[in-house]
Amino acid sequence: MRYDIVTAGPEDFAAAVPDLAHVLAACVANGAAVGFIPPLDLDAAAAFWHGQEGAVRTGEKHILLAVTETGRIIGTVTLALAPQVNGTHRAEIAKMLVHPDARRQGVAASLLKRAEQVARSKGRRLLVLDTREGDDAERLYARLGWQSCGTIPDYALNGDGTSHTTHVMYRQLPPPPAGLMIEHSHPDSPDAVPLIDALSADLAARFGSDGRGGLAGWDAVADRSLFALARLDGVAVGCGAVRPFDGEVAEIKRMYAVPGSAGVGAAVLSFLEEGARRLGYRRLLLETRWANDRAVSFYRRHGYRLVPNYGTYQGRAESACFGKIL
Ligand SMILES: CC(C)(COP(=O)(O)OP(=O)(O)OC[C@H]1O[C@@H](n2cnc3c(N)ncnc32)[C@H](O)[C@@H]1OP(=O)(O)O)[C@@H](O)C(=O)NCCC(=O)NCCS
Repeated sequence: MRYDIVTAGPEDFAAAVPDLAHVLAACVANGAAVGFIPPLDLDAAAAFWHGQEGAVRTGEKHILLAVTETGRIIGTVTLALAPQVNGTHRAEIAKMLVHPDARRQGVAASLLKRAEQVARSKGRRLLVLDTREGDDAERLYARLGWQSCGTIPDYALNGDGTSHTTHVMYRQLPPPPAGLMIEHSHPDSPDAVPLIDALSADLAARFGSDGRGGLAGWDAVADRSLFALARLDGVAVGCGAVRPFDGEVAEIKRMYAVPGSAGVGAAVLSFLEEGARRLGYRRLLLETRWANDRAVSFYRRHGYRLVPNYGTYQGRAESACFGKIL
C-alpha cells in the first residue's frame, strides 16, 4: 500500500472530515480508547472533527493525514501546540488513529515522525501524550523513543462502565545538529557564493538547468526579502532565500544543503518560514522539478502541498509547485 503524509490545511480540512469520521468511528468500534465510548456513529464522529476546524484555522492544531494513492484517508494524528505562554516549547499528540484495515504497515510511525517534524518547525521540543495501558499504541510510542512517566489508574471509562489505567508519556525531540547556526546573510557574501555555485552545478548536472534565472532581478536585501546561511562549526553548509511574490505570498528560492549534512535543510527551511512569518507573509510558494524526488519528498515532509503551477512555471510539465500556509 502506498500512501502520503500531508497536513490538512484550513482550506481543505472540511473536505477531509467524512474520511476522518470513518477512521475515528472504525477505531472506536474496534475498541480504541480515544475519548469516546462505543457506539460512536458517523454523525457524532464528523461533529467531533468539525469541532476541530477553528483550532486548525488558528494553527493551534495541526492535523496530519495518511492518504492513499486513491485519495482515501487511512490514518491521522493531531499535534496540539500548547497555548500557554510558558508552554511555547511543548505540544501534545492526540487522536493517533489508523483504520483497522490499514494497520501494521508503519502508517502510525510515519504519522508520528511527521508530527515531530511539524513540532520542530513550530519551535516545539517536548511532546506529551497519554495512552491506555497495554494498548498496541504503548508499544508504538516506546519503539519511537517515548519515555514513560508512569500510570494514572481509573483514568477513563470503557464501553461496559469499567475504567482503565492510562500511561502518561513524553518525548524530548533531539536538538538540531550541535554547532549548527543559521544567520541572515547575502547571496553575494564570500561564504554564500560557493554554496550557490554548488547548487547551480548540481541542478545543471541533474536537470539541465541551473535555476539561477529564478533569482534574476532579485534584491536580497530588499524590503521583505531574506537570505539565510547555515554554518556547521563555522563552515557554510546550507542556504535558502525568501522573496516577495504577491502581497502576503512569498517564494522560497535557492534552498541548498551540502550533501551529507543531515538536518541542515530542515533547519534552513524552518528559519525561512519563521522569517517569512515575521515579514508579514501568510503563505509560501516554491518550485522544484518532479525529477528532483529528494526535494519533492523533503517539501512534502515539511507540510508543503502541491499547488497549480504559478507564474513562469505555468505550462511547464517538469515543474512541481508547492505551497504552505504559515
Ligand atoms: C496504535 C495504532 C495507531 C498503530 O497504528 P499502525 O499503523 O498499525 O502502527 P505501525 O504499523 O506503525 O506499528 C504497529 C506494528 O506494526 C509493525 N509493523 C510496521 N510496519 C510493518 C510492516 N510493514 N509489516 C509488518 N509489521 C509492521 C510494527 O513493528 C508494530 O509492531 P508491534 O505492535 O508489535 O510493536 C493503531 O493500532 C490504532 O489506530 N489503534 C487504535 C487507536 C489508538 O489506540 N490510538 C492511540 C491513542 S493514544
